Amino acid sequence: MFDARDAFAAPAAPAPTLREDYRAPDWLVPDIALGFDLDPARTVVRARLSVTRNGEHDRPLRLEGEELELLSLTVDGERREPVLEDGRLVVALGGAEAVVETEVAICPEKNSQLMGLYASGGILCTQCEAEGFRRITYFPDRPDVLSRYRVRLTADKARYPVLLANGNPVEQGEAGEGRHFAVWEDPFPKPCYLFAVVAGDLACNADRFRTMSGREVALGIWVREADLPKTALAMQALKDSMAWDERTYGREYDLDRFNIVAVSDFNFGAMENKGLNIFNTRYVLADPETATDADIDAVAAVVAHEYFHNWSGNRVTCRDWFQLSLKEGLTVFRDQSFSEDMGSPAVQRIDQVRTLRAAQFPEDAGPLAHPIRPDSYLEIANFYTATVYNKGAEVIRMMRTLLGPERYRKGTDLYFQRHDGQAVTCEDFVKAMEDASGVDLSQFRLWYSQAGTPTVRARLDQSGGRTALHLDQSVPPTPGQPAKQPMVVPLKVALIGAASGREISPERLVVLREERQVEPFANVTEPAFLSINRQFSAPVIVVAERKAGEIEALAESDTDAFARYEAGQELMQRDLLAAIGGGELRTEAVVTAVAATLRSNALDPAFKADAIALPGESLLIEKLDAADPARVHTVREAMRRAIGVGLKDDLSRAYMGTSRADPSSLSGEAKGLRRLRGATLGLLAAADAGLGRTLAARQYASARTMTERQAALMVLAMLGGEEAEAALADFYGRYESDPLVIDKWFAVQASVPAEETLDRVEVLGRHPAFTLANPNRLRALAGSFAGTPAAFHRADGRGYDWQAEIIVAADKLNPQTAARFVAPLGRWRKIEPGRAAKMRAALERILREPGLSKDVLELAGKSLG
Ligand code: ARG
Ligand code: ZN
Repeated sequence: MFDARDAFAAPAAPAPTLREDYRAPDWLVPDIALGFDLDPARTVVRARLSVTRNGEHDRPLRLEGEELELLSLTVDGERREPVLEDGRLVVALGGAEAVVETEVAICPEKNSQLMGLYASGGILCTQCEAEGFRRITYFPDRPDVLSRYRVRLTADKARYPVLLANGNPVEQGEAGEGRHFAVWEDPFPKPCYLFAVVAGDLACNADRFRTMSGREVALGIWVREADLPKTALAMQALKDSMAWDERTYGREYDLDRFNIVAVSDFNFGAMENKGLNIFNTRYVLADPETATDADIDAVAAVVAHEYFHNWSGNRVTCRDWFQLSLKEGLTVFRDQSFSEDMGSPAVQRIDQVRTLRAAQFPEDAGPLAHPIRPDSYLEIANFYTATVYNKGAEVIRMMRTLLGPERYRKGTDLYFQRHDGQAVTCEDFVKAMEDASGVDLSQFRLWYSQAGTPTVRARLDQSGGRTALHLDQSVPPTPGQPAKQPMVVPLKVALIGAASGREISPERLVVLREERQVEPFANVTEPAFLSINRQFSAPVIVVAERKAGEIEALAESDTDAFARYEAGQELMQRDLLAAIGGGELRTEAVVTAVAATLRSNALDPAFKADAIALPGESLLIEKLDAADPARVHTVREAMRRAIGVGLKDDLSRAYMGTSRADPSSLSGEAKGLRRLRGATLGLLAAADAGLGRTLAARQYASARTMTERQAALMVLAMLGGEEAEAALADFYGRYESDPLVIDKWFAVQASVPAEETLDRVEVLGRHPAFTLANPNRLRALAGSFAGTPAAFHRADGRGYDWQAEIIVAADKLNPQTAARFVAPLGRWRKIEPGRAAKMRAALERILREPGLSKDVLELAGKSLG
């Protein structure tokens, strides 16, 4: 029956944007001049756009705008009455070109979305990617419109002594009434998402870099005066990155200046604005006393990532946002390669794969699965995902593996040369790789269009005196993609002698292309073990048929460090899953493997730390249907206890040995020892709470690095009791004035794997230092909580309710960041029915909220399925 209320009551569902609907822009904007009269309460922005008609058509110029107060519009100097159509300014133009000028007012201090121009701790700054420029001025806000920018900033000189924009400074001076001005020009045409300005009372760590062609570049890292001492590591990373990109990709920096600014309120990690990168403070400010080794490594990786975007993203940019992985996948691969070259490749690779499995595999297996080049979106901000970034990087890595390093480099050279100054597609990248290498990548392109993690099943057949590897692959159905075609899967494979433990067939590349494929291994007659997907050469799930004793042997002697780590994880996972499924928990094999790792003289400490860590609870849940998170936790803890009890002496010896780590050193050795210190402490504490408390309290009190202090605090918090409370109080008092460390204080407490954690989280949500307005603080509390299954998945469902409330409350201030917390509720398909129903109920409650943002609407809607 027709109910009239349905037709009128509900607001029209927003329509998705489709990749196939792409059309070239009707108008181009080769030049733009911007004038900012900066004031936190009311900033006036004057824009002069020189526009040219693109092709033969008679369509008007349409300019996007959001939350702008339009003060005036002129065309070729004549005033016009503005015409607005759903927020867009529509300007009818007669000729082939025109000068369109607008004047708008905006309010940075009320901008809680942190998109466009906003205020952060007394600094005025911008974030425009993806679609924030429209919150600054009316403009065709799409990445295929490239313009040369001239920007004039005027501001109060006392409050905002430093005025920065993209490119080079060309003029500055007094503007009267205590104000001053600066003019910046960027000679490189760029899309508006790379536009940036900053005004504030900032101090500068200044340095220089001499490029390979001998040009001097002035480098600056701009922070609050008090934070200057914490910028040295970021500066070193910047110079290393600049040299690395010259060496590795032949890419030289192109402007006379490169500036980085750190701000405390930022929706994500950092932003590659041309010549003026803007960073979340957590990826700039670091020293060993306040940042962990992992934090310090992340600073270097993000500095490198944003710097590398200067070529992969800025000089060659994206035609439309469906092509996001063109720049992000490539740039993540570049920053990963940089980290591998600067540190230990195997340990880096283990970290990368851990991240992929923790964040991307679940995404690819759930309701939010999408190809690295998506086909549609409601809100593009929701597609800055682990799939686009991390799986995108794996796809570039596979191309390099298939082509080999030389032809890969020829491919990137051709890509940068052919498309310099253009806005292009993923297809253009693949085409350049093909043209430069002569390798046919037709079937490989499926990695761009098909979502879902392929499963490869492997069986080494040694019957009848011959050896052959039998492979088959399947790609699971994903939303909108019920049936899949076989992909190109490059697998690095070696055979290890079952008796000798040595490589009897050296590593080779097996490229799986068919649904089923058999690879013969000539001249292998002795019994062999299969070392497959070495270095994680393909982002797939390998299910190998194992002989008795095979994984145990590989965990001890695989000649590829990554594969050796994998075998250990496979072993742990096998015994954990069997027990979670109802069997008895068998721990002997794992204890033996951990013992061998701890006792080895050949392994470095960082590898040992990774190898003795059990697969995380989230990862185990992903492997199950109808998981009971409480049982997963209980079984995993029992395994940890068994290791701790069985190997108490080895662990204690290893733990004591790590105290020699030089606190002032950031060498691989020192960092590895600290990592092993944390891992061994955790296992000792799992076995003996009393011993754990004693050791952790002592480590906490005598810690000379944040790595040691935070690890000890986490162990104490997990054990609970007076020692934990004392340490938490001490930690808060000690670091009260350092927001990045206080984030850790929130995160540690929200990461305790216990049902009672919610009670504490609720209290922390009302703590005076908690605020929904700061994304780092929100992530520290809500992100950590949702990332801790044994806490989040309380049987009564109150964890979900809390999460839903936080999402709804945060959405009113900052939709982009609020939307980041939806995905954990969408994992209900993996959880037992009782909890799953409560997760769905929480999603439904979110969806009933009036005035929900597109961001949260899209993700909550899809998550409910
Ligand atoms: N391009 C930035 C980076 O990867 C991130 C921008 C994220 N934007 C967003 N709307 N989530 O370095
Ligand atoms: Zn990026």
